Amino acid sequence: MKKNIITLGIESSCDETSVAIVKNGREVLSNVINTQIPIHTLYGGVVPEIASRNHIENITAVAEEAIKKAGIKFEDIDVIAPTYGPGLVGALLVGLSYAKALSFALDKPLVGVNHLEGHIAANYITYEELKPPFICMMMSGGNTQIVHVKDYTEFEVLGRTVDDAIGEAFDKTARVIGLGYPGGPKIDELAQEGEPTIDIPKTHFDNLDFSFSGIKTAVINLHHKNPQINKADLCKSFEKTVTEILVDNVLKAVEQTGVTTVALAGGVSANSYIRKAFLDIQPKGIRVYMPDRKLCTDNAAMIAAAGYYNYMAGKRDELDLNALPDLKLTSFKKEEE
Ligand code: KG4
Repeated sequence: MKKNIITLGIESSCDETSVAIVKNGREVLSNVINTQIPIHTLYGGVVPEIASRNHIENITAVAEEAIKKAGIKFEDIDVIAPTYGPGLVGALLVGLSYAKALSFALDKPLVGVNHLEGHIAANYITYEELKPPFICMMMSGGNTQIVHVKDYTEFEVLGRTVDDAIGEAFDKTARVIGLGYPGGPKIDELAQEGEPTIDIPKTHFDNLDFSFSGIKTAVINLHHKNPQINKADLCKSFEKTVTEILVDNVLKAVEQTGVTTVALAGGVSANSYIRKAFLDIQPKGIRVYMPDRKLCTDNAAMIAAAGYYNYMAGKRDELDLNALPDLKLTSFKKEEE
């Protein structure tokens, strides 16, 4: 009988301290998330040094709670999978150092996880049947890219933002029009009361790249020039404009690759308008997957899922693994023996 593989995932790349226990890469036994959003809200955005300090204060208790909720002991863990990039270096180092200490003390393998792979893997938790290949529209606070997921650890980036990440555009727009932090959920909520009546110019490329900074600036200028403008309509028009760009590029990627399965990933894939727009392309013969809302934003269950697939592909890291704030999505291929 195949042995079950228990992975402990750790996420501390930004403002969530999270530890999860996942069985065989898909079954979540626990996923404890300690969010620092209320602390950073006071400053209108994430303060890196404060994030690191809070991770240090929380990591041990969060890990112990994850173990307890999963009904296991530390000794039952087979793989330790921390995020090692991209993200805030001081924040990443906290989760990574904790993982190294655990790996050394328990004598269990350490498998460093790329945070972006974690976002993609959130889909494997939500959908038991989902397997590569598929096209992934990755939309987070620091990243926007279209990825051809060829296998669990094999990726080809087909297009990316040339300026702001989409989450950054949501957050900065929300801040300037007075909605506060974090902007994405605030725009999502207010847009539900609005109509997309305001015309916002788009930047189009012939390839699969994106640009969001012009749209952000256009919305901010509209607000500054006309402070009486209906904010709900502005938010809905902003969402409609960015969504049209996302959908256009995903349809182009489907045509280019012939891959008709699409998955969304990253914090912005929690957005109601974007989720609905992608479901609406299914009649074109495209199957669309999107993680449960709570798995879209940062959490350790998705990191454990990605860690499991890297472990199965043979990836192992040493205790000198460093935090890499600018880590890019790269493939891991097992070397031929
Ligand atoms: O993936 P994530 O949790 O962190 C990164 O890895 O970057 O993404 C955070 C981003 C933030 O910009 C946040 O405003 C955005 O996701 N976000 C949303 C929604 N929920 C979170 N954006 C639009 N609509 C939402 N409902």
